[in-house]
Amino acid sequence: MYETLLMIPGPTRVAPRVLKAMSENIVNHRSALFGEILKDTNEMMSEVFQTENDSYLITGSGTAAMEAAVGNIVEKGDKVLNIVGGKFGERFMQITEAHGGSPTELSVEWGHAVNPEDVKYILEEDEDIKAVTIVHNETSTGVANPIAEVGKVVKDYDALYVVDTVSSLGGDDVFVDGYGIDICVTGSQKCLAAPPGMAAITLSDDAWNVVDKTETSTYYLNMKKYKKSGDKVPPETPYTPSVSLMYAMREALNIIMEEGLEQRVIRHKMAAKATRAGVKALGLELFAEESAASNTVTAIKMPEGVTDKDMRGTMRNKYHIELAGGQDHLKGNVFRIGHMGNITHREILTTMSALEMTLKELGFDITLGEGVAAVADTYLGCESF
Ligand SMILES: Cc1ncc(COP(=O)(O)O)c(C=O)c1O
Repeated sequence: MYETLLMIPGPTRVAPRVLKAMSENIVNHRSALFGEILKDTNEMMSEVFQTENDSYLITGSGTAAMEAAVGNIVEKGDKVLNIVGGKFGERFMQITEAHGGSPTELSVEWGHAVNPEDVKYILEEDEDIKAVTIVHNETSTGVANPIAEVGKVVKDYDALYVVDTVSSLGGDDVFVDGYGIDICVTGSQKCLAAPPGMAAITLSDDAWNVVDKTETSTYYLNMKKYKKSGDKVPPETPYTPSVSLMYAMREALNIIMEEGLEQRVIRHKMAAKATRAGVKALGLELFAEESAASNTVTAIKMPEGVTDKDMRGTMRNKYHIELAGGQDHLKGNVFRIGHMGNITHREILTTMSALEMTLKELGFDITLGEGVAAVADTYLGCESF
């Protein structure tokens, strides 16, 4: 009877147009017709990545693109600087290890952003580092790392700059060429608001030079094969893609083009700002340092005396709003509100109001309406959202 409102950091709800696109029947993935769809989708992907370089769609989740990024440039013993400030930073390091690379971990306290000077220090000390990995938006902590500033640092060294924008692309500023990113990856199910199951990657000329010289240990994710197929006219994928998901991706990207990337990022910024204002007005504490707060997900400390089970359970079962819990050691200690994809002021107001009712019911001392008022004030103070 009730549709659950997904306020989690992916997967996100998709527009009816995207669902409809997916219901089209399957075509031959080696046909000119599908080639045109792939071409359109690749081109729009490059536009969203804000790069002149080609993009490639991979049937697989965001992790597939992370693995493609690392697995095509790392051979046994290659040194990689992995910036680790949360679960997904850790994942890049695990992938580095899985491909025989030798990681140098730059550990950043969860909830904080990396200091570009620390990256510089390590690169200065070790000229053999072949690549630097960073997660733009660390979904596990609600932190956005300064990828533009880190890019400026990496540019001065002979290392590739590899950036995970799985939970930021389409919801925060990502200028792949402008930031000097060599390999950028993303996933379908977050800010792009397409269903889960597709990933995208783009590589610079410098990255391709390394890929060409690297004996990769991946088969399915061998980017040389994606390039060879992608260079055909019209383009193809090396293996059978999810045709239905490609329809969905194309439609989701069409919607982004219609909204305009700049406006979409503003909408996400507003949602993040309003969410932070709302929870703070209720006396809750943000987990991430506010100067590095994410545009797409807000992590909030679980209030004293309230359990994750009761809080998220009430939100889900009574108010039909799904929030995310904490990951790893943050389990039970934080909850996360995802505000990515198609989220607008409507969903933020509804979520804040339900959160107030939930907390009040669970005995937390708040005045109903204060969170909602702070959300409303944030939106009213801004001309376009
Ligand atoms: C920042 C980030 N990177 C990578 C991933 C992995 O993506 P997937 O679950 O699609 O493999 C996620 C998923 O939550 C993410 O948030």
